[in-house]
Amino acid sequence: MDFNFNEKQQELVSYIEKWVKDVFAPIAEEFGEQDALCLDMVYALGESGLMKTMIPPEFGGTNDDNGTHATELCIIRETLARLCPLAESTYSVTGLGSYPVILAGSEAQKNKYLSGVATGKTVFAFALTEPNAGSDALRLSTQARLEGDEWVLNGRKIFISNAGYADAYTVFAKTDDAPGSRGISAFLVDADTPGFEVVRKLSMIAPHPIGEISFSNCRIPKENLLGERGRGFKYAMQTLDVFRSSVAAQLIGFAQAALDKAAAYAKTRQAFGGPLTQFQSIQHKLADMYMEVESARNLVYYAAWRKDLGNRVTKEAAIAKLYASQVAQRVAYEGQQIFGGYGMIKGNPIELLYREVRPPAIYEGTTEIQHMIIGRGMLSGDFI
Ligand code: CAA
Repeated sequence: MDFNFNEKQQELVSYIEKWVKDVFAPIAEEFGEQDALCLDMVYALGESGLMKTMIPPEFGGTNDDNGTHATELCIIRETLARLCPLAESTYSVTGLGSYPVILAGSEAQKNKYLSGVATGKTVFAFALTEPNAGSDALRLSTQARLEGDEWVLNGRKIFISNAGYADAYTVFAKTDDAPGSRGISAFLVDADTPGFEVVRKLSMIAPHPIGEISFSNCRIPKENLLGERGRGFKYAMQTLDVFRSSVAAQLIGFAQAALDKAAAYAKTRQAFGGPLTQFQSIQHKLADMYMEVESARNLVYYAAWRKDLGNRVTKEAAIAKLYASQVAQRVAYEGQQIFGGYGMIKGNPIELLYREVRPPAIYEGTTEIQHMIIGRGMLSGDFI
């Protein structure tokens, strides 16, 4: 067992740190807080080579393990979140949307989409959630009906990251009345397909490009079925197994940033004749924050390590996401306490972090869903 990053992984961290400082952060800062996708950041990511880490070499990427380098994904998300919270999702959402193509796509689909993802030219979205089916994703009601050589899609999806900016959407829809997950299939829908529409954009607690989309007799070629008919729900769950640990990595990036900022402030802020760090209550607060971030980080990289060894990581991903989101919320809260009134001012980085840690406790499976996955697996003996 080795708890260290290898040389290549350490170089990746150093590369991202320098690249974020020189290229990414200035673009993000100028763009500011908008509920929109910053295309300059997308292009910069394309040029950085970071998008390539998710794509197999035969399709223009550098991932020689068919897209399952979970550790690299976590390293990139943690480092981006720590250094540039406003920009992290620019990297990850296209990865989430295109991962099912790596998982189940035909050669033609991989050829069509993946080299664009690798160069940052193709933006993706993952369309699972619906107005009446969020946590209970099996209840989705978007329909796909086969008519001749085309699938005809009808329905609505909500809380879709990159809605209105994505070139392609991975859409989960009902194709049969089969019980359980077997009635759900996955499809690739290009944004310019007639019948596809972005109904509205949503403004969330933290800046994020997200919206609602609809399909009205939206006709796509038969070949746009992704993988096998009736296996779409499983592809969605397998994708989330990989990405949930990386959401946890993003959360520890946010938490580490909050801790760094709070510790730096506590060292310089004077009260009662000395810096805040002279008080045991502040030292203990910082020590608890540090301990919790370290513990959450261990869970994240344990999940990624097991995934990279080829294991199913439903349990590890759920534990990492659940715990990291609780830790990040506590750490951001305590960081704000240390900043006092200054931490309440918009524009103070700790105030943004306090908002940024909230949505990941909801998306890609709420805290309550992660509890359900862990509890069910443990009680049924599946996790032993
Ligand atoms: N890997 C492979 N297969 C899996 C799986 C996994 N991790 N988890 C479940 N399955 C399979 C099961 O084996 C079962 O297969 P059969 O139909 O063959 O029996 C099927 O999927 C259904 O599983 P369950 O019986 O466990 O279904 P359930 O309804 O009781 O629970 C759930 C499912 C775990 C709660 C699931 O619905 C879930 O994860 N919900 C949360 C939804 C979610 O995370 N949405 C995120 C949307 S994306 C997003 O937020 C990003 C954004 O853009 C903002």
